[in-house]
Amino acid sequence: MSAPAIRFSGVSKAYGGAPPVLRRVDVEVPDSGVTFVVGRSGAGKSVFCRLAVGLERPDEGEVLLMGTPLSGLSERRLLELRRDAPYLVQGPALLDWLTLSENVALADPQRDRARALSALERVGLTNEADRLPTEVGPGVRKRAAIARALVLGPRYLLFDEPTTGLDHKSARQVSEVLERLRAEGLGALVVSHDYPLLERIADRVILVEGGQARVFPSKDAFWTSDDPAVRELLAPVRAESFDG
Ligand SMILES: Nc1ncnc2c1ncn2[C@@H]1O[C@H](COP(=O)(O)OP(=O)(O)OP(=O)(O)O)[C@@H](O)[C@H]1O
Ligand SMILES: [Mg+2]
Repeated sequence: MSAPAIRFSGVSKAYGGAPPVLRRVDVEVPDSGVTFVVGRSGAGKSVFCRLAVGLERPDEGEVLLMGTPLSGLSERRLLELRRDAPYLVQGPALLDWLTLSENVALADPQRDRARALSALERVGLTNEADRLPTEVGPGVRKRAAIARALVLGPRYLLFDEPTTGLDHKSARQVSEVLERLRAEGLGALVVSHDYPLLERIADRVILVEGGQARVFPSKDAFWTSDDPAVRELLAPVRAESFDG
């Protein structure tokens, strides 16, 4: 059996004098399938991701990424590990003065153009390789950022709100890429409130709330949960589907 992609044991994290964002969290994220992470704004979803890939250190507890404990790892080893499980940050991620293929190649120490083109092909951007980020739409930019995460053939991916802020068409293009990666068998953690996407690709859901991470082993367990925090998150979605 392979190690979980992410494992938190007794992980706490606080900033300044504020109440802790995470409080002794124990959670395991399997390396296969798509794990959605939901929770209200400010609940700690991005902090969870940054801790998972060692961009931040916990105040206490231990984080394992792809089975490797992160405490005490050198920055160099951390970088190597993140190539196996890259984290696609929330918000813009490309350099405007480089073409899409050059942006993708940045993640490759060898700057190999053929490898960059094949990553772009996986996200349906073969014909956009030589365009600048400013010449293409937000959905294409996001997909290029995904290609950059794919360039070294990772075993796992972490996405922070991949479809948030995109127009409908762009969001659909990004969703299709995520569906395709899942069909290819790539495991992923997806922080998102895109519930139609959750319905299509989530194999399980983690709710981050009140300093804790609660796992729902299937999307049905999540949809039908009577946890007040879940009901509150889903209330607007349910209201919308009644309207429509
Ligand atoms: N570097 C930091 N310094 C101080 N406080 C921080 C820092 N990073 C995060 N926080 C705080 O930690 C809490 C959780 O932040 P986080 O960004 O993880 O929320 P989130 O669940 O990702 O929210 P959103 O849905 O808005 O992206 C927030 O209260 C935030 O202000
Ligand atoms: Mg966030």
